[in-house]
Amino acid sequence: MSRLDETALQDECTQAGLPWQVHTVAETASTNDDLRLAARRGLPHGTVLFAESQTAGRGRRDNRWITPPGLDLMFSLLLRPTAPMPLWPRYTTLAALALCRAVEAELPLQPQIKWPNDVYVHGKKTAGLLAEAVDTPQGMALILGIGLNVNSRSFPPELADTATSLILALPAQVQAQMKALDRQPVAFQVLRQLAHTFEQIDLRYEEAVAEVRQRSWLLGKQVRATVDGTEIYGRVLDLNPEGHLLLALPDGSVRPLASAESVRQVLSSPTA
Ligand code: BTN
Repeated sequence: MSRLDETALQDECTQAGLPWQVHTVAETASTNDDLRLAARRGLPHGTVLFAESQTAGRGRRDNRWITPPGLDLMFSLLLRPTAPMPLWPRYTTLAALALCRAVEAELPLQPQIKWPNDVYVHGKKTAGLLAEAVDTPQGMALILGIGLNVNSRSFPPELADTATSLILALPAQVQAQMKALDRQPVAFQVLRQLAHTFEQIDLRYEEAVAEVRQRSWLLGKQVRATVDGTEIYGRVLDLNPEGHLLLALPDGSVRPLASAESVRQVLSSPTA
């Protein structure tokens, strides 16, 4: 499998007028950790780091993010947003949307968003996002880490039923014809869509949420959400204009969720 070509990726970004300064490494512990340090050292907005392999990749809720070297896309963005901090949670929603747009632009797939920020194809997770704020001498910065399964064909047993990759989501005859997807155009398309979608952070955010709603995997499903350690059962009614999840609870009330530790589909709510 060929390595990502840093120079070619940077050239494409520059020619397209994108704000990214692209770096690649063969191996690191975690690109999020690297960019946190880079942010403290003063590296600018738009710094992007791709790793072919991570030895301590992290997911949300202290999960590990493990993927074999060279198969998938693992990278982080350093953002120094001009938007006020209360709007920063919107970046994860926009990044999930950008991933969907990018995958759809490159492949015959219709990705969906599993709120708040996983990307699903055919009901299984193919990408996840990890957003972390960091205090730097230049002010608060945001590190956005993205793991996108592109060519992985097998997963650890505990993820086997819930994880997939872009190649596995393609029709069987297409998969059979190709050894692997070329990650280079996927990486460029993702960077392109991220830059464009982030422009919707402010005035065009509700428009973005409308598209997220169209792509929402959870809509109408019965779920169990864990919020601040408490389990809540309900049916997903909608997203509000901020992109928060609206849950219809068994007592007839509607509860908006701004965030949750986890949200899982359940087949029915528990009886008392
Ligand atoms: C999740 O779904 O829990 C989020 C996964 C985020 C993984 C990416 S891979 C690149 C970046 N570096 C990390 O250590 N984590 C993120």
